[in-house]
Amino acid sequence: MPNRDLIRQNLYNTLSETNFERLAKVYTGKVRDIYEIAGKKIFITTDRQSAFDRILASVPFKGAVLNQFSQFWFEKTKDIVPNHMIDVPDPNVMVVRPVKIFPIEVVVRGYITGSTDTSAWVNYEKGERLFCGVQLPEGLKKNQKFDEPILTPTTKAEDHDEKISREEIIAQGLVPEEKWNKIEEYAMAIFKRGQEIAAEKGFILVDTKYEFGEDEEGNIVLADEVHTPDSSRYWVASTYEERFNSDQEPENFDKEFLRLWFKENCDPYKDETLPAAPEDLVEELAFRYIDIYEKLTGQTFEYNAEVPIAERIQDNLDTYISSL
Ligand SMILES: Nc1ncnc2c1ncn2[C@@H]1O[C@H](COP(=O)(O)OP(=O)(O)O)[C@@H](O)[C@H]1O
Ligand SMILES: [Mg+2]
Repeated sequence: MPNRDLIRQNLYNTLSETNFERLAKVYTGKVRDIYEIAGKKIFITTDRQSAFDRILASVPFKGAVLNQFSQFWFEKTKDIVPNHMIDVPDPNVMVVRPVKIFPIEVVVRGYITGSTDTSAWVNYEKGERLFCGVQLPEGLKKNQKFDEPILTPTTKAEDHDEKISREEIIAQGLVPEEKWNKIEEYAMAIFKRGQEIAAEKGFILVDTKYEFGEDEEGNIVLADEVHTPDSSRYWVASTYEERFNSDQEPENFDKEFLRLWFKENCDPYKDETLPAAPEDLVEELAFRYIDIYEKLTGQTFEYNAEVPIAERIQDNLDTYISSL
């Protein structure tokens, strides 16, 4: 069980921005800060919580949970597809090999759900039956399982992602056909593995997003993050059936409640500065991230909260860099 007292004590011991010495920062993403050294990329997963393409809050321990979630899944899938992970010198840090990322978000869905413009359910409800090139059957209900998982790619556009089909990806030359076939095959196999392991632990892996890249020898490599609660949706398996039959939303681990608070208390699309997220919501989010991490991986989460988080990372990075 996550430790509420420790979460509460560390509500402000978070990693929102980074500025590490001896490394060159090359990119600041929504959630991760990326540095480079000796031909390797250093991914620092921060505690930033993003939504509406903005940063809503910093959630204690979230970066460490996400990074170690990815580490767990890279290990569990490396027999299916090679991945970019080299080392994890700190709970928030992954050293990876740089690859050329294909410009497609490889989305796999086991269930029809969602609430945004690119979600399968919203499009289906509007009457769309051809979704990212996939023909959907009539008569589906929200949160229903597909007979087989479907692959519904989107482009990796600057501001927002656009739906795209397999045929368009190939016709537009975004990914060569042979490589795309391989990517599809990998994505389906990793998703199947993810669903099996999640099921053993009482969870449903509902849907996810993968990013693949290509290394210098032309091998396809699983990159970015894998099956984290930021890139994937998980539901509690034991209550799914009953809730589905009575038209209730499944028990989930989504940040939806935080998004809703912002929608009700400001205009997150327009306001220049946002109000601070309520402490009890941030605490709840931290609790949920740690809870699913522990249940899914079977590992006890290590808080490592005795020192300020940035100092701890700098120390671990110094040791790592000296060993190179
Ligand atoms: N092995 C890799 N080599 C190069 N780039 C990568 C690799 N793995 C992931 N990336 C890219 O690094 C970035 C990760 O940072 P993130 O915080 O998720 O940023 P974003 O806001 O762009 O999604 C993404 O742009 C992702 O495509
Ligand atoms: Mg990302």
